[in-house]
This record gives sequence, C-alpha cells and structure tokens, in this order.
Amino acid sequence: MRVLSGIQPTGNLHLGNYLGAIRNWVKMQDEMDAAKDSPGSACYFFLADLHSITVHEEREARIRNVREMAAALIACGIDADRSVLFNQARVPAHAELAWLLNGTARIGWLNRMTQFKDKAGKNREGASVGLFVYPVLQAADILLYQATHVPVGEDQKQHLELTRDIAMKFNTDFGVELFTLPDPYIPKESARIMSLRDGNAKMSKSDPSDMSRINLTDSDDEIAQKVRKAKTDPEPLPEVAADLEGRAEALNLIGIYATLTESTPDAVCAQFAGQGFGAFKPALAEVLVETLRPIRQRFVELKEDEAALDAILDHGAEKARSVAAPTLSGAYEALGLMR
Ligand code: TYM
Repeated sequence: MRVLSGIQPTGNLHLGNYLGAIRNWVKMQDEMDAAKDSPGSACYFFLADLHSITVHEEREARIRNVREMAAALIACGIDADRSVLFNQARVPAHAELAWLLNGTARIGWLNRMTQFKDKAGKNREGASVGLFVYPVLQAADILLYQATHVPVGEDQKQHLELTRDIAMKFNTDFGVELFTLPDPYIPKESARIMSLRDGNAKMSKSDPSDMSRINLTDSDDEIAQKVRKAKTDPEPLPEVAADLEGRAEALNLIGIYATLTESTPDAVCAQFAGQGFGAFKPALAEVLVETLRPIRQRFVELKEDEAALDAILDHGAEKARSVAAPTLSGAYEALGLMR
C-alpha cells in the first residue's frame, strides 16, 4: 500500500480539511505501521506549494504558509519519522512529470473539471493557465510515487478520475506499464463538510465569511460561538438519519458530530431524537472544542520553530526525490527523450 495526498498551503486549515482528509491521513499512517513489512509500503504527504501559484499571493505569505501548514499537519498527527512529509517545490520531478503528462492529457478532459469552472468563475479568460492545467500537476504528484491509495475529500474525486485516465492513456500510448492506477479513499460521512452558514455550500477557505468555517486556529470561544450561530431549522431531530432529507444544515451538523465521535448519523439521531438544536449544539461545540484544542496547542508551539520545520521538509524532500526518480526516468525513457 502506497498512500499519498496533498494540501494547498494557502490560509488556515479548516474543519473540512481536517475531517475530510487529514484525519484519514493520520489513520492510514497508523495502519501503515502494521503493514510496514511489505516492500514499498509508505505514506507520502505534501504541501502543494506549486499548485498555490495558480492564484496570486505575496512572496512572504507563501513562505510563511508552507511552514505553517507543515506545522498544522504535524499538530494533527502526521509524524515525519513515519511518513514522508515535504513540499512540492523541493522535488523538481513534480513539475517535470507534469510537463511530460501535458502531452497525454486532453483539453476536452480539462474542460470538464468542475473545480476550474468554480475557481475561474465568470472571468475564464482572465484565469491563469496554471489554474487550467492544475489537475495535470496533481496527476504527476500521484503517479510519481506509484500511489495506490489517495485519501481526499469528495471535491477531489474528479481530479483522481482524470489521473487514472492520464495514467491509462500514457501506459497504452507508449506500451509501458509505468504508472499505477490510484484509488481514491473517500469515507462517506466526512466526504463533504458543508459551510455552517449554508448546508449546500462546501466549507472552504475561500468563503468570505469566517463564520462559515471552523479553523484549526479558532479559540474555544470562537468555536462555541460559530456553532451557536450555525444555521439550522426549528424541527427536532428525528429517530433515523434518513428522515433528515431536505434538511441540509441539520444533516451537516449531525455528520460532523458522528465523524468526530467515530459514530454514525443514525446513532447520533437516536441519541438526540426529539430534541431541538438548542440541546444538540452545545454537545457538538463540546466535542469540537475537545478535539481541536490539543491540535491548536501543538500547532502554536510547532510553528515558532522555523528551523525545525525546514529541516523536516528538507529531509522529507530528499526521500521523496529518491522515490520519484525512477518513475520520472521511466517517463522520459518511454517518450524517447534522452538525457
Ligand atoms: P485542498 O488544499 O483544497 O484541500 C485539502 C484536502 O481537504 C479536502 N477538503 C474537504 N473535505 C471535505 N469537506 C470539505 N469541505 C473539504 N474542503 C477541503 C480536500 O478534498 C483535500 O483532500 N488539489 C488538492 C491538493 C492536491 C492533491 C494532490 C491531493 C494537489 N495534489 C495529489 C491529493 C493528491 C487541493 O486543492 O486540496
């Protein structure tokens, strides 16, 4: 089993990132310990700083964000001694393979990417070329390491399907078995954590309202206040989760509670059946605060030690470069590009 995933180091880590992805990264890292005797098994987690250039950001902010996201991941439980933790820019093979894959990826495939449409908005002509070809770099990230499992949130599913299409076409066109086809790992309950203000919009760092998301850096009081003000409806909670249909906000909060307590929406409904949100919200705030407080405390300590974070990323990149090298060489070789 080769596990790989990435996160863009832009802004704060929020509850959607944590429950949708990072928590599963940590679980897979822990499972990996049991599987570590099988050759090649390892976890690769990286900061997608090359992806972050697709939108404008000041130089200093970018430098700070990479370190802070590394600190956040470690605070969440990623252990750089057991997993390979690095940032893309330190591993040139990502940019190189992305260029090679540009010969295989089709414009029609990229035109279908909903994330590009969402992020570019109405001004498609004004979006960067990088934003358009972003999924090809993501394919390179995954294929370089022969990843078998990619833990992500639902919003990345389409990019993973594209990765498989690119891998298959490359292998077929050049008659090689170079790339492993990766499988997305998207547990149902936490696949899509929604905004606290709108149960039909994804929780996201780009939402202008900070009340829409819970950040890893929020204080206990801020978390409690955001939960208190979260949009809900006046109905009591039903006995079973199936009866939450059409109540997007309620479904989201129940899903968050279930994920945090390693339970199921049905079990949570059974526990709170007949009660309103006045009773449920304080319980939710409490589990959120208890889960996030230790992470926040570790994060605040870790982010101060820039030299230690740089050393961790340097070390991770060295390992990543050595693992990526044979796949990259295989791609040059298959294309007949002599080096
Ligand atoms: P990014 O940085 O937007 O998000 C990081 C991870 O968090 C998940 N996520 C969510 N999950 C559930 N509910 C939400 N509201 C929510 N918001 C974010 C995302 O699905 C993701 O797993 N393109 C990727 C980064 C990337 C990558 C890769 C991932 C680059 N190369 C290779 C996997 C493999 C991105 O922008 O994620």
